[in-house]
Amino acid sequence: MKRNVEFAQNETKRMLDLLLTPEDQVPADVRARIEQETVDNFANHVNRGWLQYRKSMTEAGDFASVEWTGQGSILTDTRGREFIDVLGGFGLYSAGIRHPKIVAAAKAQLDRSPQYSQEMLDPLRAHLAKVLANLLPGDIQYGFFINSGTEAVDGAMKLAKLHTGKSGFIATEKAFHGKTLGPLTLMGKAMFREPLLPLLGNVRHVPFGNADAVEKALASAAQVGDGIAAVIAEPIQGEAGAIIPPSDYWPRLRQICDKYGVLLIADEVQTGLGRTGTLFGVDHWDVTPDIICLGKALGGGVIPCSGFFANAKVWECMVPNPFMHSTTTGGNPVACAAALAYINVMLEEDLPRQAKEKGDHILDKLGELQAKYPGILADVRGKGLLIGMEFPSDEMGWKVASGMFSRRVLTAGTFINAKTIRIEPALNISYELIDEMLKRLEEVFSCISKEQ
Ligand SMILES: Cc1ncc(COP(=O)(O)O)c(C=O)c1O
Repeated sequence: MKRNVEFAQNETKRMLDLLLTPEDQVPADVRARIEQETVDNFANHVNRGWLQYRKSMTEAGDFASVEWTGQGSILTDTRGREFIDVLGGFGLYSAGIRHPKIVAAAKAQLDRSPQYSQEMLDPLRAHLAKVLANLLPGDIQYGFFINSGTEAVDGAMKLAKLHTGKSGFIATEKAFHGKTLGPLTLMGKAMFREPLLPLLGNVRHVPFGNADAVEKALASAAQVGDGIAAVIAEPIQGEAGAIIPPSDYWPRLRQICDKYGVLLIADEVQTGLGRTGTLFGVDHWDVTPDIICLGKALGGGVIPCSGFFANAKVWECMVPNPFMHSTTTGGNPVACAAALAYINVMLEEDLPRQAKEKGDHILDKLGELQAKYPGILADVRGKGLLIGMEFPSDEMGWKVASGMFSRRVLTAGTFINAKTIRIEPALNISYELIDEMLKRLEEVFSCISKEQ
């Protein structure tokens, strides 16, 4: 495009004026214009594929839905239509949208100092690390903060390589650890990985939930002299559609890693901080990994914040040169303020307990729906509020997602398993909204079964 400075100046001013207009004073025609402009801007400047790919919306013939505001578990679009959010931003909104305490903390820090100087010591980052050390499993004590889940896994991979002096990893089939090049190597789905090969070398994938396969892979790597730094897995696979491993899986992974002298990394970007009904996913099996990754909910759904954490022994390799890993914006004071507020809310509202009780309630009701509509709902599974509904085909999954969307319930598929739709709402969602969502889901099933 030809450079147009005047256009940029006018357009930034127009959007800033709109941002500074109180929400209830934006006229309907301005909102309608935003809707049309957003569609055009996505097509011309973001990615037109996006408009076709959002299956819940395209199948519902309503892809132009443009989100405008939200609170708790309700999202409102530019037309003022309200959606029950049971997608939770892929696990980002564990405390709901715009939790007042988290927003207030971030705003207060914004007024004090939004970023750090890079040279002086910043108190919030250190305070957050100390608070997390008091919550994380076992002897995990040190942490490094960044902005996304994929950066957390990337950092964990570097740390494992630096500590062990080995280069390899054992990952699991159907795993999802992020899409930058390091974590993409660990990805368990060909569609995202294959076009980018070769990625990092010496990575072996084994079926998730099969501890014997991990042991075999480690024995084989040792036999041929491929040094393995770590075994990495999600406590419960999220993007694969809420896959729960056998109950002895994580305890056995711990034993096997100790036997072979490799590190155990738990990717808790999705399962961590209350989502599955315990503080961390590995708490279900009382296992302490060597390295743990957090993301998504850590920033309270307000500011991006993620981190990787390890015990003192593993962390020691970062001490001689602490700039072996660095970031300019990661762990900034606003993100740390939001994370501290999220942790406070999580503990005060006992979000893990809420996740467990509400998850059990949803699973019970979904079990009843499965018995009533066995040809539509093939499987239901999950722990806490990380729940997957599996359908007999991708098409059926899309039909259900679009049926829910046209009934103003926001759900979505997962990155790895297109037959699965996730139910991953805020952990403090009300029972009233849960039951309303289930009522609308049953309507969708009933319509589909009449069509069949
Ligand atoms: C287990 C796990 N790890 C890593 C990531 C990547 O996080 P992000 O999208 O913030 O990079 C995700 C995202 O879904 C995830 O579920």
